[in-house]
Amino acid sequence: TPVPDFDFVLFGATGDLAARKLLPALLQREAEQVLPSRGRIICTGQQPLSTEEFADRVLSGLKNPGDSALERFRARLCYVPVDARDPQGFTHLAELLTDPQTVRVFYLATAPALFAPICTNLAAAGLVSPHSRVVLEKPIGHDLDSSRVINDAVGSVFTEAQIYRIDHYLGKETVQNLMVLRFANPLFERPWSAADIDHVQITCSESLGVEGRGAYYDRAGALRDMVQNHLVQLLCLVAMEPPSAFDKDSVRDEKLKVLKAVRPITGERVRTTTVRAQYVAGAIDGAPVPDYLSDIGASTSDTETFVAIKAEIDNWRWSGVPFYLRTGKRLPSQSSEIIITFRQVRHCIFPADAGPIGPNQLVIRLQPDEGISQLTTMKAPGSGRLALIPASLQLSFRDTSGARIPEAYERLITDVIRGDATLFMRRDEVEASWHWIEPILDGWRTHMPRPQRYAAGSWGPVAAIGLIERDGRSWYETV
Ligand code: BG6
Repeated sequence: TPVPDFDFVLFGATGDLAARKLLPALLQREAEQVLPSRGRIICTGQQPLSTEEFADRVLSGLKNPGDSALERFRARLCYVPVDARDPQGFTHLAELLTDPQTVRVFYLATAPALFAPICTNLAAAGLVSPHSRVVLEKPIGHDLDSSRVINDAVGSVFTEAQIYRIDHYLGKETVQNLMVLRFANPLFERPWSAADIDHVQITCSESLGVEGRGAYYDRAGALRDMVQNHLVQLLCLVAMEPPSAFDKDSVRDEKLKVLKAVRPITGERVRTTTVRAQYVAGAIDGAPVPDYLSDIGASTSDTETFVAIKAEIDNWRWSGVPFYLRTGKRLPSQSSEIIITFRQVRHCIFPADAGPIGPNQLVIRLQPDEGISQLTTMKAPGSGRLALIPASLQLSFRDTSGARIPEAYERLITDVIRGDATLFMRRDEVEASWHWIEPILDGWRTHMPRPQRYAAGSWGPVAAIGLIERDGRSWYETV
């Protein structure tokens, strides 16, 4: 579908997310000539800048995709100083937004505390038309209650169908491909259940630290920052039943059912099914890395930068199949992957000295080196005695299609303008996710108030290895 004419109003345009992700994504779409000529990017922020000054600043920070794309992009930009809590700036916006038939996207890349005042001021200035949409960046609250307050406030101005809650993981090509892998390939979907699958691992590891976001991160921690949204979404996509159609409500209904079936982790169970830890000084790729406290410039903090969880899904398909989730900052590598480990052969016909039969494992690499590997057992070539060896079938997205793999935001931003909410979170999903996360936070407060420690550059504390090895399994190691 072509992208319709639009007014894209960006709140928080002088912030980090706008500079690192949103404006580069729009510029990329410009370079691909996907944007219609009548499409404006109206940037707002508290700073008193002219459009000229803002455009110079933005463009100097962007990679030049070619002079003509850059010029077209500059011509779309306009800057309006707006203080989210002050109606004044909104009247200036109203002078620009005069055609109610044009798609209006209000993108809130601001602190969540500003979501409600922005929405109220938009409504008061008469800016919310039937063709308006609002995009909410995470975090949507820091627990169930606060997420409800935000959702209520936004919901009093926009209908649910107009609200687009971003989880940028859903915009990643490889995450979308998860659905295609499962539902376009009977080879995978048929054995996709407890009958054939032993367990699932989802790892999102980052070698970076908190990168200047210490104030936000220290209040959030890894559970809220990564698990509540990204890892939970991945778990839903792996575990959901096939939706009857690839549309927003069919997909989101199925994800919601998974969330409702994830076993609550309450009370003392946090001790046996979760691990929380914070990094101390260490080294990554031979370079020394300071501890978390120095990274955030504080003398004390009990915030976790690493989480591992053994999750279980109480439904027919997944009963007895653990989902081990793991994420952390300052781990050895920057990589996200999902590993599906299939059950062993029921009966081995080969002699014991032929070597072990490893489990079949499907490794879905979300980033980097996007692709899929299927680990198998093969015969070692040779005419001597029979020997079994592990071998893997490799599929690299880059080599297969040769196409550039787009950034998540490129897809998501144009989906909003087109009005396609399939890759966005519905309110009930976000709240169901908080509903599962909150008892873990409560349990931690009571039973595990101090995070364990791990050295930067390691795979987390020993307890994270214990969490899975206690069950006779081990974390998949990228080779
Ligand atoms: C964000 C988190 O949502 O996701 C960050 O707030 C994290 O802390 C980032 O670094 C990871 O995203 P990606 O796309 O780099 O895996």
